[in-house]
Amino acid sequence: MALNGVTIRTPTPSDASGISAIDAQGLATGHATFRDTPYDWKSFSESFLVGRGLALVAEDAAGIAAWAGVSPTSARAVYRGVGEVSIYVSTEKQGGGLGRHLLEAIVAASEDAGYWTLVAQIFPENEASLSLHSALGFEAVGLRKRLGQMGYGPFEGRWRDVIMLERRSRSIG
Ligand SMILES: CC(C)(COP(=O)(O)OP(=O)(O)OC[C@H]1O[C@@H](n2cnc3c(N)ncnc32)[C@H](O)[C@@H]1OP(=O)(O)O)[C@@H](O)C(=O)NCCC(=O)NCCS
Repeated sequence: MALNGVTIRTPTPSDASGISAIDAQGLATGHATFRDTPYDWKSFSESFLVGRGLALVAEDAAGIAAWAGVSPTSARAVYRGVGEVSIYVSTEKQGGGLGRHLLEAIVAASEDAGYWTLVAQIFPENEASLSLHSALGFEAVGLRKRLGQMGYGPFEGRWRDVIMLERRSRSIG
């Protein structure tokens, strides 16, 4: 599905501040990630743009509106097609189909890059993310109980469950 006025492309260093700002909005919800520090260009590119990693940004006339990335889950050759996906849409642009558009794009890009399984790890409270990933064929494979302790934000100190979802490609592997 195309989205009017939105371009999807590979990020460059000049996108760093836009990516970081969107990431900070996600962290501030307390329901996006255990990470306590927004990505800067160094940590973003080390996570998503080296080796088998990949990343995309969605841009409209106002600038970067969302980012998504896939990072390998293991260095073992047998798992070379298994990656973990991340997606963050700016607060102002949420609920308008951009997350779906970008997740579709990164899933397609991951298959082009040879990934056959994408994993997503989502807090049970993150209904928007669960809904989005389910809509694109991710299935819950388990509940990881009290997996980590939040180190910051509105839920600091709380041990959090995480739902593990997977999307198995029908065309790769
Ligand atoms: C999760 C997130 C990426 C969704 O992006 P979005 O652009 O708002 O999502 P979309 O508008 O494309 O909606 C996608 C689907 O999710 C559903 N959805 C969106 N917001 C929702 C909400 N608050 N509650 C329930 N479902 C919701 C929509 O109904 C839609 O389903 P449909 O296609 O069947 O109608 C976005 O909310 C976000 O960036 N959140 C902060 C960061 C974060 O939590 N990232 C995920 C970490 S695991």
